[in-house]
Amino acid sequence: MLQAAQLRVVDEERVHVRPKCLRGRPRALLAFLLLSILASPAQQKTGPTASFDSARKVFRLDGANVTYAMGVNAHGELQSLYWGDRLAATDALPAPRIVSFADEMNDGPQEYSGWGGGTLDEPALKATFPDGNRDLVLHYASHAIDGDELRVTLRDISRDVYVTLKYRMDSATGVLARSAVIENRTADKLMLEQAEAANWNLPASTDYSLRYLAGRWGGEFQLQTQSIQPGSVVLESRRGSTGHQSSPWFAIARGPATETEGSVWFGALGWSGSWRITVGQDPMQQVRITGGFNPFDFGYQLKPGESLQTPVFYGGFSSTGFGGASRQMHRYELTNILPQAPHPPLRPVLYNSWEATKFDVDEKGQEQLAEKAASIGVERFVMDDGWFGQRKDDHAGLGDWYVNPEKFPHGLAPLIAQVHALGMDFGLWVEPEMVNPDSDLYRKHPDWVINFPGRPRSESRNQLILNLARPEVRAYVFGVLDQLLNENDISFLKWDLNRVWAEPGWPEVAPDEQKKLYVQYIDNYYSILQDLRKKHPRLEIESCSGGGGRVDLGVLHYVDEVWPSDNTDPFDRLSIQDGFTYAYTPSVMMAWVTDSPNWYNQRVTSLSYRFLSSMQGSLGIGANLNKWSAEDLAVAKEMIATYKSVRGVVQQGSLYRLVSPRGNSEMSATESVAEDKSTAVAFVFLHSQQMRYPARRVFLEGLDRNAIYKIRPIYGHLLDHEPTAASGAYWMGNGLSVILNGDYDAAGFIFERVARP
Ligand code: DGJ
Repeated sequence: MLQAAQLRVVDEERVHVRPKCLRGRPRALLAFLLLSILASPAQQKTGPTASFDSARKVFRLDGANVTYAMGVNAHGELQSLYWGDRLAATDALPAPRIVSFADEMNDGPQEYSGWGGGTLDEPALKATFPDGNRDLVLHYASHAIDGDELRVTLRDISRDVYVTLKYRMDSATGVLARSAVIENRTADKLMLEQAEAANWNLPASTDYSLRYLAGRWGGEFQLQTQSIQPGSVVLESRRGSTGHQSSPWFAIARGPATETEGSVWFGALGWSGSWRITVGQDPMQQVRITGGFNPFDFGYQLKPGESLQTPVFYGGFSSTGFGGASRQMHRYELTNILPQAPHPPLRPVLYNSWEATKFDVDEKGQEQLAEKAASIGVERFVMDDGWFGQRKDDHAGLGDWYVNPEKFPHGLAPLIAQVHALGMDFGLWVEPEMVNPDSDLYRKHPDWVINFPGRPRSESRNQLILNLARPEVRAYVFGVLDQLLNENDISFLKWDLNRVWAEPGWPEVAPDEQKKLYVQYIDNYYSILQDLRKKHPRLEIESCSGGGGRVDLGVLHYVDEVWPSDNTDPFDRLSIQDGFTYAYTPSVMMAWVTDSPNWYNQRVTSLSYRFLSSMQGSLGIGANLNKWSAEDLAVAKEMIATYKSVRGVVQQGSLYRLVSPRGNSEMSATESVAEDKSTAVAFVFLHSQQMRYPARRVFLEGLDRNAIYKIRPIYGHLLDHEPTAASGAYWMGNGLSVILNGDYDAAGFIFERVARP
């Protein structure tokens, strides 16, 4: 995996913990004394968030309202001690205990367990050695604290297999980033069959419930809830990419947590390949979450001296319910994950041609759309599929990234010049990992695709997957994109991926190296994104995968936004967007206003409804503007101008999900509040009119209770007697009465602070 630059080690401790069989009391005492001496106060440098209590052998990470702690027991095992609400600096956590596996004791769950030595939990690491031995028992070896990063190195009790656990606590949000590096320092190769990023252990209890995101193409990010019972729940993708079916995110509440109250632990995995998160409760009520590379069909050989970096698993804790958990995650993504973090620029309003023209793009048609787009205030014009090779439909062309000479006789230059002249920047759709068998590339390099020799090559959307793990394929993909960007003034790529893996073979390498495909492919995908950005610093990228099939904290390091779903129906989008925001910031959530009836489900909605639904994220237009009336274009112009005035709040403010669109709810509402509480934006949607009420009452959150806020409609009305200005306390306590009339009516309001207390 790609790694951030290695940091200088400023505080390192190294203790040789001997195998259990060699240890007697005097040796344990000696080791303990040595540890204490090495960790004398002078050497105990504590970074802002990480510290080590050498007397008790306890590591502690504190950030925002969160404390995380673990410790080394007398056997040398690293045990999880605490994860939750921030503890007092003076709180001494109980020293880690010796655990008897025979008793199934649960008061000493391991922080990162090897499969061996009687482990009963879901292990983090499983290996097979060439002699057939599969026993791996990891004990503390050393640690280092460098600013915010803590690294704890474990070693197998007899073999030179080292695991360095990395922890980085974010002091602003309390989100902890965890990962592991597994290193083979033995003289022989070994095969890793399971390599997780982290085990997370919750305080033992029975009253836990799990929330996760499941779905399908056109119905991504559907929030699911179930109680946690003895046994395991497996969330995963075995498809080579993140997937529409499940998103690598979880939230676990203890007791009756709500949107605003209660204890919630949450986490998200940064990996865009096959992944797995298991949530298990053992017979002793220990709840443990384990996540990383999906161990299904996994096999990563490490030769002597080689190492494997796992994905990063991010975790946090909120004592203010699911809303608080999401806001912490959003803030973390904006300040720590996105390519331009900690200050990602606001997303421009874009136009995309896909729903208007499908594959039928040409210079004249695109220029016409660009003119209309510019006239309503669009800032970025994106030409979607159909511009390259012999691409007339989805049967041909993928792989041949030259501009189609019939559709664009003078290349892309005239269109781009026109887009620029209209005051917009230009973006282009690509799907670089794919090839149609009907393409020059496939005819030349049929061996470049993922395949098992002699077996059928399953096609999906008439396409096969290039084996990006191969250096020559990686070079080709980088080369064509680099050339495209060198030859044309392109500010934005929409990078699509329209199928999942099948027959995942890599016949060119030795059989025991072939499963490295699962890791090497994704590493190369990330490295292409990174290298393109480095070479073309103005470039922005959207991750799309037939909708929301590649949204995760791994790809979000390299892309500025994502496409959540091909389902652009503004009503269906309410629940897709609701689920999305549990894990991901609205800043990256691209949402187009498209035509009505919607292509996906034929639902008819008003233009204002469509705008209000899309304005909750990063606004785009995906309609055939040639069909819009002058009145539609005027409404759009006004809506876009208003959106621009509040997009900072929507994209980077604090999101409050006021009323959920899930279940049989008749209505739903969201609110975004600026970080300094000066502005708030509320969106309210009526789903289906039942027993008409005079108005719907919506209670705001997150305002400055003593300040005065003036209300300004984006669209819609309040009941007549409502004030036009009132205190934050009023809008939160008394609420506002929004007139909504008929199915799919909607309203939006802006609250501006006019006076401070
Ligand atoms: C799937 C994407 O999700 C759509 O927006 C569009 O780009 C098509 N692919 C193009 O083939």
